[in-house]
Amino acid sequence: MTIPQFDLSWLSDPTVFAVNRLPAHSDHRFLVAGQEPRQSLDGRWRFHYSPSLAARPAEFWQPDADLSAFRSIRVPGHIETQGCGQIQYINTLYPWDGHRALTPPHFSPEDCAVGSYVLDFDLDPALRTGRVCLSFQGVERAFSCWCNGRFLGYSEDSFTPAEFDLTGCVRPTGNRLCVEVYQHCSASWLEDQDFFRFFGIFRPVFLYAKPDTHLEDVWLQAGLDRDGRTGTLAPRLKTSCADPACGEECTVRCTVTAPGGAVVHAGELALQPAAPDPACPGWMVWQAPELRLPHIRPWSHEDPALYDVSLTLLGADGRLIETCLCQAGFRRIEMADGLLQLNGGRLLFNGVNRHEWNPETGRAIGRADMVKAIETFRRNNINAVRTCHYPNQSLWYELCDQNGIYVIDETNMETHGTWARPGEGAAGAVPGSRPEWLACVLDRARSMLERDKNHPSVLLWSCGNESYAGDDILAMSRLFHELDPTRPVHYEGIFQARREAANGAPYDPAWEATSDLESQMYTDPRDIRAYLESTPEKPIIQCEYMHDMGNSLGGMESYIALTEEFPQCQGGFIWDYMDQALWHTDPLGRRTLGYGGDFGERPTDYAFCANGIVFADGTEKPAMQEVRYWYDRPDRRARFDADNAAARIRSANTLAAEAEARARADAAAPDLQIVQGDGNLGVRGPGFAVLFSYTEGGPVSLRRADGQEWLYRAPRPVFWRAATENDKGCGFPLRSGAWLAAEATARCTAHRLEECGPRGVTIAYTFTCPAVPGMAATLRYTVTPGGVLRLQASYQGAPGLPELPCFGVRLTTAAPADQVAWTGLSGETYPDRWKGGQFGHWQEAPHLAGYLVPQDCGCHVQTQAVTLRRPDGTELTACMAGDAFAFSALPHTALELEAADHKEDLGPAPHTHLCLYAAMRGVGGINTWGADVEPAYHVSGEADHSLTVDLPLR
Ligand code: GAL
Repeated sequence: MTIPQFDLSWLSDPTVFAVNRLPAHSDHRFLVAGQEPRQSLDGRWRFHYSPSLAARPAEFWQPDADLSAFRSIRVPGHIETQGCGQIQYINTLYPWDGHRALTPPHFSPEDCAVGSYVLDFDLDPALRTGRVCLSFQGVERAFSCWCNGRFLGYSEDSFTPAEFDLTGCVRPTGNRLCVEVYQHCSASWLEDQDFFRFFGIFRPVFLYAKPDTHLEDVWLQAGLDRDGRTGTLAPRLKTSCADPACGEECTVRCTVTAPGGAVVHAGELALQPAAPDPACPGWMVWQAPELRLPHIRPWSHEDPALYDVSLTLLGADGRLIETCLCQAGFRRIEMADGLLQLNGGRLLFNGVNRHEWNPETGRAIGRADMVKAIETFRRNNINAVRTCHYPNQSLWYELCDQNGIYVIDETNMETHGTWARPGEGAAGAVPGSRPEWLACVLDRARSMLERDKNHPSVLLWSCGNESYAGDDILAMSRLFHELDPTRPVHYEGIFQARREAANGAPYDPAWEATSDLESQMYTDPRDIRAYLESTPEKPIIQCEYMHDMGNSLGGMESYIALTEEFPQCQGGFIWDYMDQALWHTDPLGRRTLGYGGDFGERPTDYAFCANGIVFADGTEKPAMQEVRYWYDRPDRRARFDADNAAARIRSANTLAAEAEARARADAAAPDLQIVQGDGNLGVRGPGFAVLFSYTEGGPVSLRRADGQEWLYRAPRPVFWRAATENDKGCGFPLRSGAWLAAEATARCTAHRLEECGPRGVTIAYTFTCPAVPGMAATLRYTVTPGGVLRLQASYQGAPGLPELPCFGVRLTTAAPADQVAWTGLSGETYPDRWKGGQFGHWQEAPHLAGYLVPQDCGCHVQTQAVTLRRPDGTELTACMAGDAFAFSALPHTALELEAADHKEDLGPAPHTHLCLYAAMRGVGGINTWGADVEPAYHVSGEADHSLTVDLPLR
């Protein structure tokens, strides 16, 4: 029954989520007379923004409405990124938190902005015959629409298509389409994902024309026989007819073409009518017997072999009606022997979570964004993606099919803010076991499944994210199984519910059946081990792990090691793929990447939106080499390690030979010239000069033969690194803040001339700090006649001293270096994140990595030598004298970084700060809200740390 009029009460009624919407169906394409009868409606539409429901032009859909107050807007696109409303990023809390006291399913009409869209269009000639339908691929968060003054329908669920039948109201020319988009509705409670909250028509809109008889839905049901070589197809089709009588007569020919072009099957399908589907009123359902195709190439990440399947629909008179173009990948996914298996073998997810994102257009993304992501996946051995936390655009699944990327396809649902409420526990969880939400959440599951079911890349259906557990979600899982017996179901919330049950939250053991696998997030590797050692029934995955907020992703080895030790540990999905930040103009008029709070929104969760392994502009974060390494095959990792070890030894031998040559040169060199002043000690040799100050705590001048000054100030011990997001998350700066005081205030309290003769000068400076009683650090310098400055930095630990973030020495150059070159590991490395670095000679401009909030960055562990170069060609090198060391060469100091919220807060840099480290804390990666760096990567304040390097001055 068609409902003729929009009713505003639908917005607040969770039982109404679709009115006059056509049934969900597969996303196959089809040709009529060799052409795709599809017309894009993307482009500029007329538009009006209203800040509340009451303020909207409620009659704008009337054909004679006055639209003079309308401006224009781009479709697809968010409303907020196009100058209206408030951009807001917020994590688990609902966006109205603290502004309105709301309970489900209510929303505040006063705060429900409305976008009124109008498009005038003519039908393309190819659409002028047939039944015309209108397809919205994604509208956030609810909308109603009218064509030529007639109400078409209403829909919720922002991330699956909503389609309406225009037959009977559309004309060849002079049509007007009106769409009213609501920022909120009852379903706002279901869409509490941790992301920027937008609204508007953000995915493509198009029209298509269906021939009189049409294959509405195609399900190839491609499978792989147990023999591993026989592909199976059991097409189930749904047809609709303009004239209900004609459907009985249709004939479908099926042609299957292998990747190389060979036709492996061609023939008519022996279609049998099947029981009608109550979800698809008026459609006929047909089932064909299983086709068995021998000698096929199974579909997998390693060989994503896709077969073209064309289904030709013929009328009773043999006339060609339409041709559906599909692709099949023959594969079998199943739970067997306590494992998740693909094609009979254990599956391992080297995965990543991915939000749809573009730093200009938010979640309104296009092909280029997706292709770039897929290429990044392939380059870095990522084999799986979780479409967190909503179904993506269809093209994404096509690309995953083509590139062998395994997909966990996730229902658009997150209700985090309804159950993670301080003090209130999970009793208020939506949907929970509440009957009023059941149909709505089942509809979301069905819409996703029906659209995506043909994609071989989709291996698991997911019930959503962080929506607690309950009868409703269990029913979703059952629906997935009922509609698609071939795919297992994933849901993580069970784990959270089990945990909350310990605090008295509602929990029913029956809910365990919601997920076919044990899925957890951010579990400490030690707890995963405990699970695996308990001989569990279900294998385990981490649907989120390695929280890559800022400078993170340390300790991945611990997770990978578990997957190698326990077959039931089947991998995980890094959180997440891309920083969510938007280009905007800051208050000083600069174009910068903005994160939560930068747009004036409150409340917000600030930089929590930036957890990607790529920056918001799609460039890879420094940690990507680590992802690439750990997601590689073990045999290739072993080869990489062996090559690195050999290169390290070769380089160390070369450096040792150079050190010997310097020692010989020392012996042959003339005596040092020493000038004892009142406040300074000058040491000179052929081609170099060092001036040690007694008052400044170190050498204040260092010149080589070119005479250029290297030092801006005397070097200082380093006790602090600008806290990383993970440091802050686990309270490290609070526990170890004494070192921040030491960094800022430590003073040289003693110096000692240990040797002062023509064959060598050694002077040691001792630093102490009242804020850290008992601490002493010494910087000791020795100058040899041959022109080597040996620098030893040593830290003496004392009982009770807090953990250090790092210890080393900082040299600040008189003028900035434009290049830093080093012999060591590629990229940015830390003690718990270096295995992906390739040993060799590297160079770059000293710079801050693009972390949205400035924090420690640019560390290079296991370095054998580092050279700073200035634009005039002068250079200064530090070589290991004993052990390799870590360094960073940055334009700003730790204290400067610590105080900045954005890179742009830091002015132009007149110096380069070369920090040479004896010890550096790991960056960690388990999570950013409490988990510490793994114990092996702490830097004890009670132990001693030292570093020795040689700076050849000639
Ligand atoms: C998870 C959640 C993600 C994201 C992450 C923190 O709990 O599922 O959506 O919020 O935490 O970055």
